[in-house]
Parts: sequence; C-alpha cells; structure tokens
Amino acid sequence: MTAFHQRVFSGVQPTGNLHLGNYLGAIRRFVDLQDSYECIYCVVDMHAITVAQDPAELTANIREVTAAFIACGIDPKKHIVFNQSQVAEHAELAWIFNCIARIGWLNRMTQFKEKAGKDRENASVGLYAYPTLMAADILVYRATHVPVGEDQKQHLELSRDIAQKFNNDYAASITRLTGSDAFFPLPEPLIQGPAPRVMSLRDGTKKMSKSDPSDYSRLTFADDADAIAQKVRKAKTDPEPLPSEAAGLSGRPEAENLVTIYAALADVPRDAVLAQFGGAQFSSFKNALVDVAVAKLGPISAEMKKLQADPAHIDAVLRDGSIRAREIARPVMESVKDIVGFIRG
Ligand code: TYM
Repeated sequence: MTAFHQRVFSGVQPTGNLHLGNYLGAIRRFVDLQDSYECIYCVVDMHAITVAQDPAELTANIREVTAAFIACGIDPKKHIVFNQSQVAEHAELAWIFNCIARIGWLNRMTQFKEKAGKDRENASVGLYAYPTLMAADILVYRATHVPVGEDQKQHLELSRDIAQKFNNDYAASITRLTGSDAFFPLPEPLIQGPAPRVMSLRDGTKKMSKSDPSDYSRLTFADDADAIAQKVRKAKTDPEPLPSEAAGLSGRPEAENLVTIYAALADVPRDAVLAQFGGAQFSSFKNALVDVAVAKLGPISAEMKKLQADPAHIDAVLRDGSIRAREIARPVMESVKDIVGFIRG
C-alpha cells in the first residue's frame, strides 16, 4: 500500500457563536498536533453559505474564527491558516467527488437530516452535497489525519469511502500515471480532544451548538466573566450531590457534562474532579467551574479582541496561508485531472 506524507487538515465553519464545544472538541487538539504534524487549518466559508448568511456578518465571522485559531495557540507561520474560498481547488475537487459519491451515501447523513429539518424540499443543494466538499477539503491536500469532534465522525467515514472509491474507479489510470496503487490516503479521524462531545448547558442530551436558539446553552469566546458566571449558574443540573466515582454519573447527563467540561478546562482526569468534588452540591461545584472557565477562556477572548481590532492583519494571515495552501492543492488537482482523463492547458 502506498505510504502517504503525514499531514493534518481540519476546518471550522464561520457561522458565529464559536463555543466551548468547538474549543474542547477540536481547536485545542489542533493546537497540540502542531508539534508532531504539518498542519492545515481552514476557515470553511464555502460550507457556511450552505445555509443563508448575512454577507457582512460572514466576513466578521471568518475573521473571528481566524482570531480564535491564533489566540488559542495555532502558529500561522509554521503551519497554514486560511479561508477555503481563496483556494479554488476545493470547489474543483468537490465537483469530481460529486460524481464519485452515491446519492444513497448522502441520504444517510444525519447532519443533513437535522439541519434540513422537516422542510427538506427547501434546503439548498449545497447543504445536501456538503460532505463531498468536506472530503475535497481534506483530500485536495492528501491529508492523512483529521482532528474533529464526535459529531463529524459520519462525514469523515464518507470522506474515506469517497477516497477509496476514487482509488478503485481509477485504479488503472492511477497505476499508469503514478506507479502506485492509490492516489488518495484514507484520512483517519482523530476524535480525541479533551471533550469530543460537549453537551448543551440547558439539556445534557443535546450537543452544544452554534445554532441553538438559547444563548444559555453554550459558553462562547465572546462571553465575559459575568456572562460565563451567569450561564454556568443557570446550567441545568439534577437534585443529587456530585458522585465521587465515574459510575455515579451514569443516567445523569447534565452532571456528566459539567464534570467533563471542568476536567477538560482544568486539564485533569475526570476521576480527579470526582475525587475532589464527590458529595459536594452543584452550587459549590459551579463556583469552581466558573473560576476555571474564566481563567481559561478569559485570556483567549482578550487576545481575540485584540486581533479582531486589526482586520487588515487577519486578512494578511489568510492571504499568506491561502498562497501556501494553493501550492499544495494545485499539483494534486492537476494529477486528479490527468487521472480522470481531462486535458490540461
Ligand atoms: P463545525 O464548524 O460545526 O465545528 C468545528 C469543530 O468543532 C467540533 N464541535 C464539537 N466538539 C465537541 N462538542 C461539541 N458540542 C461540538 N460542536 C462542534 C466539530 O466536530 C468540529 O471538529 N463539517 C465541519 C467543518 C469542516 C471540516 C472539513 C472539518 C468542513 N470541512 C474538513 C474537518 C475536515 C463542521 O461543520 O464543523
């Protein structure tokens, strides 16, 4: 089997309300991976418009995600940070993948079902084809590792299926032109952030999400210390004190979520949190959670504000990243065209 250069790719949608789930499920892991991989981190603006966006807000949100990447510790000089729409190869490869993926595969995607809701006839074609663009994002760099939260697992599996089918459908052409038995790697999901599935603060059975109508359901990077305190104090709990062992969390989704969040923010194992707070009432645990959340998120929010005050600098980072991203994507796309049998100028 062909050996591929190890490369990390991941993306975040600029749809506002960047929250603790994005941080703990994905961005914090992006930061850690910089030490061991060549990393490409993308603000996926073309994915954002699969649902209606206000243009001025979209622009601001692209800068917000970029600022969050940098403020959390991603180094855009050593690695690549850019916005998707500046590298046209994503859309080009997505079209080819639209012709590889099967309708039956896309029909199984739970995120489309959730986002389209009951009014499926009125959802955009882009929302339906979303996963083929996501596969193109990853594979146009022939990335081998993709850090994501748990909710993206199904999309990653589809990306692997698309890569595999492309390799199979064009096996003879790939061998003739490249001498190897596979052109695309099967990208491996890394679902190992400190909290791969952060749940809503209002309902421990629903994931924390940008689109939840209640702002109290999530902690965001825009929250100041007062807002964090208010949201944590209002977070749903149950009447029992905290257990001292993990088994005691079963059937208590809100307790489990708050303990997981605390452990991830404080960077300690969950068992240590339970050993410390076992038997305590939620009121005192919530005070401690406010402290750790403010201590962790406060400096990131402050740095983001500073960066967002200089949009020209953020735009320059994205431009530079796009140029470097394109240098990788262009030859991959050229090879894809040769493999498919297109004539290139
Ligand atoms: P997006 O923008 O919804 O979310 C960005 C990242 O945050 C993770 N995440 C969570 N993790 C834990 N708990 C939660 N409650 C939570 N909510 C979100 C997501 O899993 C994701 O890792 N389709 C992707 C963006 C994308 C992409 C890609 C990712 C486009 N192309 C290529 C990887 C590779 C998305 O909508 O993420």
